[in-house]
Amino acid sequence: MPNPEILSRLARQTPPFHVMALLERAQALQAAGRDIIHLEVGEPDFPCPEPIMAAARRAMDRGDTRYTPAAGLPALREAIARDYRERFAAPVQASQVVVTPGASGALQLVMGALINPGDEVLLCAPGYPCNQQFVTLVGGVPRPLPLSVDNGFALTPARLAQCWGERTRAALVASPDNPTGNRLAGAELKAMAEFCAGHGGTLVVDEIYQGLCYGEGADSVLRHTADAVVINSFSKYFGMTGWRLGWLVAPAAWVPAIERLAQNWFLAPATVAQYGALAAFDDEALAIAEQRRRLLERRRTRLVEALAGLNLPVVGGAEGLRVLAQNVVIGIDPEGAGLVSLDASGDLDVSTTGENAMRYVGDRLVYSTADETMRLTGKPSVEIRTRLEGAEVVALGQAAIYNLGTGLLRLTGDPVLKIAEGELRGREVVFDQQTKRLKATGRWKMTLNPKTIAKMREGTKKQGEMKTGTR
Ligand SMILES: Cc1ncc(COP(=O)(O)O)c(C=O)c1O
Repeated sequence: MPNPEILSRLARQTPPFHVMALLERAQALQAAGRDIIHLEVGEPDFPCPEPIMAAARRAMDRGDTRYTPAAGLPALREAIARDYRERFAAPVQASQVVVTPGASGALQLVMGALINPGDEVLLCAPGYPCNQQFVTLVGGVPRPLPLSVDNGFALTPARLAQCWGERTRAALVASPDNPTGNRLAGAELKAMAEFCAGHGGTLVVDEIYQGLCYGEGADSVLRHTADAVVINSFSKYFGMTGWRLGWLVAPAAWVPAIERLAQNWFLAPATVAQYGALAAFDDEALAIAEQRRRLLERRRTRLVEALAGLNLPVVGGAEGLRVLAQNVVIGIDPEGAGLVSLDASGDLDVSTTGENAMRYVGDRLVYSTADETMRLTGKPSVEIRTRLEGAEVVALGQAAIYNLGTGLLRLTGDPVLKIAEGELRGREVVFDQQTKRLKATGRWKMTLNPKTIAKMREGTKKQGEMKTGTR
């Protein structure tokens, strides 16, 4: 057995990015035949727009599969710059754009370009968990920029200035943010960028959720100031998570140095993905992306309204892909079904995906649609109320997923489901709203009221209204 001590401190001390570990586990369970609703990672649940796929297919047919320049295809750099000028009125030139392996690659390059060993980088807390690793990778020291739930995790220029120290060389903020869903106003970003520049540092703005804005239209810090470095990606708005393609925008004078890092670290971003992305800014693909943004907006509005009605106050701006709610309890799936999982701290990255599904984990609630009444109470327990043909169903358990699309409600952790017909207890309770089937697995117990028993005797078998059983 090779000695694990031989591994570097970096390798041994880097914590897992829980959401990816969870995705791997869920995929393995799925491959083993388990019924999994994927809600782990922050990726929209729609496929990549067809015009992008068609452009990538054409590139493959042409045999355009070799290395491109390290900073990306010149035509793609130009398309990205043009998009800033045309859609965001931001004066960006192609010479400022570097195409990268996802926003993750861009973050790595920017930290490599700005940070010397020992330099400090301010990171919002709460924030995107991997940012710390990008800082430590280059010997930097992550410093928290603590935000408070009391004011909705609002980040202000004054708060940033307060946390700036002697050794601070950069501050990394996201707008719209993950996980708070907050969006920073142009004037605030400009003030922060000028503060950082005035103190010998740089403001880095992660705009990966730029397209997924629901109140005012999308914006870029680069419309307000040239003093910021921007991170972006094709992952979210264009639904291209698996293509691994992003970009950064930096002052043109810095780009040759950043390109040298890219040459060494990555050689180049994925070629076929770049050819596909060339179609992303065409009217057709943009129209599809916009249509999907509107769909996400409808889901988000429904959820925000439902949460307000359930006395689960939404904290933060609910922009991008996340809605945070207060008073949401911790959910654990004891069977490891891959539906709900979290680490001991409850600090798990969470996300919004899955057609018509809801999930909660840690202190955050994850959704894609929410038409039904949903209430989460106690600790750790969950209570869901839903209406079934006028009758109320109350479900109590430690973890719950209610899927509006399939009508399936799954409860785990000593759950009990109370319906007009009686009560059902089991290790896992599955309630199918469409077929009106109830199923409890593991050791289960059902208590029916007399009316239901009489009805069952009349031969409900034919209607398949209720089915119980063990597994
Ligand atoms: C705030 C933020 N930045 C960066 C990333 C990395 O995205 P990618 O590498 O897929 O572009 C993510 C992914 O969820 C994110 O939420």
